[in-house]
Amino acid sequence: MRILLVGATGLLGTAVHEVLTERKHDVVTVSRTGGDLQFDVTDPAQVAELYRTAGRVDAVASAAGHVPFKPFGELTIADYQAGVTGKVLSQVALVREGLAHVTESFTLITGVLAREPIVTGAAAALANGAVEAFVRAAAIEIAPQRINAVSPTVFTEALDVYGDYFPGMRPVPLADVAQAYVRSIEGRQTGQVYVP
Ligand SMILES: NC(=O)c1ccc[n+]([C@@H]2O[C@H](COP(=O)([O-])OP(=O)(O)OC[C@H]3O[C@@H](n4cnc5c(N)ncnc54)[C@H](OP(=O)(O)O)[C@@H]3O)[C@@H](O)[C@H]2O)c1
Repeated sequence: MRILLVGATGLLGTAVHEVLTERKHDVVTVSRTGGDLQFDVTDPAQVAELYRTAGRVDAVASAAGHVPFKPFGELTIADYQAGVTGKVLSQVALVREGLAHVTESFTLITGVLAREPIVTGAAAALANGAVEAFVRAAAIEIAPQRINAVSPTVFTEALDVYGDYFPGMRPVPLADVAQAYVRSIEGRQTGQVYVP
């Protein structure tokens, strides 16, 4: 398949790129500053231009999405808006603009905070929950195209940075998270939230 991978140069994106390439897919990599194509997916006009530039693809895999982490009392409305822009509306734009260009599926990224609260995680929880609700809602209207979310806990490989925020929670290796993308892209399910 020809797959557009957004956030391809990051921790998660690199792991997804590796497994999709191993499985002989033709992967077009996207980020703001690296990869085959440079676009900022928080700007819907750039998302439209991204699809015009990339041409027809079979699947989109999103591994980008920035959300601020701060203690509840320090989170401003601007922080929540940044989380919604960075993780929710960017991925919504990938689906809205992609419907005319993507033949088979969309796989979006969310995260454990949609179901398990942690201190400093309110903006991220809000964003992740919104993405998961969007995926379930979009799935019943975009058929025959499919849409799923991947909702991992903290990555084993990110424990040095984020480990202290997830006390007692079992991390997940990136290789397992990448397999959830394979399941979404190569399988036939839609409207699912995969917890690798
Ligand atoms: N880290 C964890 O333990 C963990 C756990 C669960 C879920 N997640 C979620 O997984 C996703 C990826 O996390 P990560 O740790 O892999 O992040 P990361 O290492 O910071 O990588 C982010 C990737 O997305 C690209 N990117 C960022 N903003 C972009 C934009 N506006 N437009 C286009 N590309 C953009 C970055 O490249 P450029 O900077 O060049 O744009 C980079 O390729 C996030 O949504 C995160 O919330 C992470």
